[in-house]
Amino acid sequence: MLETYNDNSALQETCQTVGNAKLERMAIAYRNGAASDELKGVRIADYGCSGGRNSYEPMRTMISALANGGPGISAECILEDLPSNAWDQVMGVTQRLNRAFDGNVQILCAGTSFYDPVCGAGTLDLAYSFVSVHFLSASPPVGSHVMLHEGTPEERAAGEAQAARDWERLLLLRARELKKGGKMMLTTMSRDDAGYSWQQFSHLVWDSMREARARSTLTGQELEVLCIPACLRSEPELMAPFCPGSELGSLFAVDSLEFARTEVPGEREMPADTLAPHIRRRVEAVWGGMFLTQLRRLGRSPESASNAMREVWDAFEEKLLPDTSRGWLDMRCFYLQVTRR
Ligand SMILES: C[S@@+](CC[C@H](N)C(=O)[O-])C[C@H]1O[C@@H](n2cnc3c(N)ncnc32)[C@H](O)[C@@H]1O
Repeated sequence: MLETYNDNSALQETCQTVGNAKLERMAIAYRNGAASDELKGVRIADYGCSGGRNSYEPMRTMISALANGGPGISAECILEDLPSNAWDQVMGVTQRLNRAFDGNVQILCAGTSFYDPVCGAGTLDLAYSFVSVHFLSASPPVGSHVMLHEGTPEERAAGEAQAARDWERLLLLRARELKKGGKMMLTTMSRDDAGYSWQQFSHLVWDSMREARARSTLTGQELEVLCIPACLRSEPELMAPFCPGSELGSLFAVDSLEFARTEVPGEREMPADTLAPHIRRRVEAVWGGMFLTQLRRLGRSPESASNAMREVWDAFEEKLLPDTSRGWLDMRCFYLQVTRR
């Protein structure tokens, strides 16, 4: 993510309108099932915390629910993201949480991929992830578009196979980290027959890149590698690893899988010349860093990569202006809750 993520993630935060209520109920269910000794020191992990802006409220909600209005709760929170994350920004959240619970909450930052072990085996009481687990462990081979789901049938088949392996791996790692009886909620964008939140504008980004290629701003090789390493999974894809008789089916009980659509109230009514640059900043804050990394890997200097991408984003904003409804305006997400058996 770019450093601008915290300032441009109000849409992602809307997932919490559904998700935090679920986290609160999940924490209460855990509290009700746990011995009082177990609640004296709880450990909670947030996978994919980014700049931390959207980590404070979920953590605060869960710890408050565990404390049940009484004193004596002591919590250790693990905020996890990639080593390249804007960790200096996360520090602000760590202090806020610590103060909110009179110094009884400690925060540890883990610069580790969630496709690797993050915490020790059987050490977590509760865990969650917002808007992160659609990101794959590596870029699938998609040369014909920026989004896997808009690629050729062969590209889609290869990418979806990788996404299936990643999903299983991520769940197995989390099963190892959670205590028996521990609970986890994972939520991020999904897709169904009606599409997905990134579908419309992904074409505008791709068209802007193809124009940059036609002007020789991008090379053919660069156009081939520029893609978003993500799979917005369907309900069958989400549920596949839990089928009866499977390893994950024996490790996790699926408590619920729900779908919801959220958006920033009133945003669609904004004037186009305000909304288009606003959406550009939102998309750029999430996608821009990945494209810069991909261009740098092919040998571009930081300055040259930024200049090339600025042209692409300018064209994207121009394409959005006549029809802002094609922008990223909603979060169509799944909310999966599981309990470690
Ligand atoms: C869109 S941000 C979500 C941030 C925050 N949870 C929220 O709700 O706004 C997605 C985050 O997932 C992180 N991410 C992507 N792949 C990851 C991986 N393999 N391991 C850990 N974090 C990853 C990104 O670095 C990014 O910070």
